[in-house]
Parts: sequence; C-alpha cells; structure tokens
Amino acid sequence: MFLIKAKEHQTMLFTTTRTLIAGILLSTTLPFVTLPAWAQDDSDTALKTQSRALAQDLQQQLSGKLKAAMQAQGPVHAIEVCHLEAPQIASRLSREQEVTVGRTALRVRNPNNQPTVAQAEVMKAMAAALADDASVVPEHVITQADGSQAYMRAIVMQPQCLACHGSSIAAPVQQAIQAKYPEDQATGFEVGDLRGAFLIEWLSK
Ligand code: HEC
Repeated sequence: MFLIKAKEHQTMLFTTTRTLIAGILLSTTLPFVTLPAWAQDDSDTALKTQSRALAQDLQQQLSGKLKAAMQAQGPVHAIEVCHLEAPQIASRLSREQEVTVGRTALRVRNPNNQPTVAQAEVMKAMAAALADDASVVPEHVITQADGSQAYMRAIVMQPQCLACHGSSIAAPVQQAIQAKYPEDQATGFEVGDLRGAFLIEWLSK
C-alpha cells in the first residue's frame, strides 16, 4: 500500500516537473504571445492575494478622499488633496523592509511615479490586453532586476477622472496642475484607457 502511494507520488512529482519544464520551454519559444513570457502568471499565490488586498486598500482610500474633495470644493481643490494625500496614503500602506505600495503609469503626473523599463513593458501589454477585452482588469507579477517580486494591477480611466486626466481640462484646473506638476504628462486619456497601474513591490529578503 505504502509502496504504491510512494510510487504514485513519484509519478506525480515527475509529471509536475515535466509540465513545468514544458511550460518554461513553451513560454520562451513562443514570441507571439500578447504578454512577455516573464509577465505571464496565472497562479493565485499568497503574494498575489496580499498584493491585491493592498492595491484595493489604496484604491478605496484614494477614491474616498478624491470623491469627498471633488464634492466639497471642486477639482482645483481636489488637486491639492491628491498632491498631499496620494503619497501619504501609499506610504502608510507600505511596510519598511517588506513592501512598498504605490502607483505608476506610462505617462506620469508626479515624476516620482516613473516606471522602470520592465514595469513600462508590463503596462504596454496591459493596455493591449484592455483594448482586446475590457471586461478583465489585467494584473501581473514580475520578477524585477534585483530579484524582488512586484505585483501590478491595471488602473482604468473612469468618467470621474476626466476632469484632471481627460482631453478638455478646464483652464483653472489646468493651471493648478501645471503649478504643482510642471512636467505633467497625464492628460489626454479617454474612459476605458489604461491610466496606469497599482504597484506593490515586495523587497527581497
Ligand atoms: C482632482 C483631479 C484629479 C482627479 C479627478 C483624478 N486625478 Fe489622478 N492624479 C491627480 C494628481 C494631482 C496626481 C498626482 C498625485 C501625486 O502627486 O502623487 C494624480 C496621479 C494619478 C496617478 C499616479 C500616476 C501619475 O501619473 O503620477 C494615477 C494612476 C491616477 N492619478 C489615476 C486616476 C484615476 C484612475 C482617476 C479617476 C478614478 C483619477 N486619477 C482622478 C489628479 C486627479
């Protein structure tokens, strides 16, 4: 009985290894997949679950602040709130020596949110995936140059984002943006476009 079990186990291990190897071979020999091979990750790991929760927390806190500020005093004042609160909320969710929570984009407003080359590649693939199928929010785990892992989740343009990221921004709003972000690149987006990504970076231990 035990022997049979052990044998089954061995076969299982062997099959898993084989599948893994086949998977690796497949992903490196197929250059035409939409996403780069290293950005492919369909497994639901603990890292992904924890990252998703952090991204969701950041999203909820940010949108709560934004909505309140927009309703209370309009977009010019809300820019001030975003400017002060967005980095603060992100750093409160981050844990020193463990995880950094933030946002990035291909075209940034705050230069501190500039992506790495690899992160930019992921976002290009996300934009293509969104254009293909808007019903799925793309997310990916990547291994970064220093060996650490980062989770990215697409941020999609909504109607309420147009006032500050759209194509026709009211003059006073534009002025307020320019005053704080003279190198702003984050306008001209349409609803449904990829605006950026939540970025949850786990420091390697
Ligand atoms: C009241 C104006 C305003 C509105 C409305 C607004 N944003 Fe922003 N957004 C900003 C400002 C200001 C920043 C820069 C924040 C900072 O300094 O970190 C920013 C930054 C961002 C960033 C970080 C990347 C970057 O460019 O620096 C993302 C992503 C983003 N906004 C997405 C959105 C989305 C999605 C919506 C709609 C749900 C939205 N924003 C609505 C003003 C706004």
